[in-house]
Amino acid sequence: MNIDGKAWRTIWLEEGGRSVGVIDQTQLPHRFTTRSLATLEQAAEAITTMVVRGAPLIGVTGAYGLMLALQADPSDAALEAAFSRLNATRPTAINLRWALERVRRLVSALPPAERAEAAKAEAAAIADEDVAMCEAIGDHGLAIFRELAAARPADRQAEPLNVLTHCNAGWLATVDWGTALAPIYKAHRAGIPIHVWVDETRPRNQGASLTAFELGREGVPHTVIVDNAGGHLMQHGQVDAVIVGTDRTTRSGDVCNKIGTYLKALAAHDNGVPFYVALPASTIDWTIADGVAEIPIEARSAAEVTEIQGRDPAGALGSVQLTPDGSSGFNPAFDVTPARLVTALITERGVAPASEAGLQGLYAKG
Ligand code: MRU
Repeated sequence: MNIDGKAWRTIWLEEGGRSVGVIDQTQLPHRFTTRSLATLEQAAEAITTMVVRGAPLIGVTGAYGLMLALQADPSDAALEAAFSRLNATRPTAINLRWALERVRRLVSALPPAERAEAAKAEAAAIADEDVAMCEAIGDHGLAIFRELAAARPADRQAEPLNVLTHCNAGWLATVDWGTALAPIYKAHRAGIPIHVWVDETRPRNQGASLTAFELGREGVPHTVIVDNAGGHLMQHGQVDAVIVGTDRTTRSGDVCNKIGTYLKALAAHDNGVPFYVALPASTIDWTIADGVAEIPIEARSAAEVTEIQGRDPAGALGSVQLTPDGSSGFNPAFDVTPARLVTALITERGVAPASEAGLQGLYAKG
């Protein structure tokens, strides 16, 4: 997507092929800077510290992390150590394990001397496929938004379609386009008047910082709201649809996404507002059915709750303490929305009910 007229992806192979470039998302929206990752350790740390984040982008970074590790040492032992190191960086998003397993499966069948080049090609393929999947999600979601816009009463046709989203499931969370934001970009480009309610998404504020940044750069009208405002807006008819991404979707259609997503789904259900979840195939965990019982939820630092980051009037970035000295914080990073609260899943293969039959209908043929 575009920043100041230039098209960007979130991750790219740098010249020479021995490092990858990424956008440093810890500095956004205040500073647009890039970083070069040249070692396994730098890739792992970029994921842990959320220089890169978002389920699909974590997966692609993991794949390139294996390439960097194999460039340094292509042995079986190094491959296993790199796999374990990267896989442990963030536990909830299944895309990471999916991408690491895909690269490991390929390279472990090859002689060590060929592994790094094969990992490079596979990581690039995963990145390109992610872009294609996200764009297709955008097309399927666009069809839904067209229908929702047309179905509004005549006296509301002049108003924009009001869509609420949580966290950042835009191009910064993927390689390009995004999942939940792809249909929004498509609708905006297709001339459908659309306005986005952006949940700030405490504690790390991916909505207020990243989603607002993306939408602003693409010229999509949006308004940042506190996380607790959504229910009120739905009660007053100011939300036509909710659309979010997911870090792991079970085979029965439960979706795990940024903490607070579940509460939005409950409010949407209570108010008859459609609640859509957008995802590529790489986000489905076919091995589990019960998301609440089986998905590991990442617990992040309490400091993300007790402090808040921003830019001061002099332009310096930093954190300030919110809570009294001595108050503790607890920071589960994701929650699970049961399939029964999801109106439909929007995938690269089309739209399906959030159920085992729905997902099988799209993916059973392989
Ligand atoms: O903790 P984050 O910022 O990595 O969480 C990101 C999300 O929860 C996204 O909604 C999710 O990865 C789906 S994005 C395509």
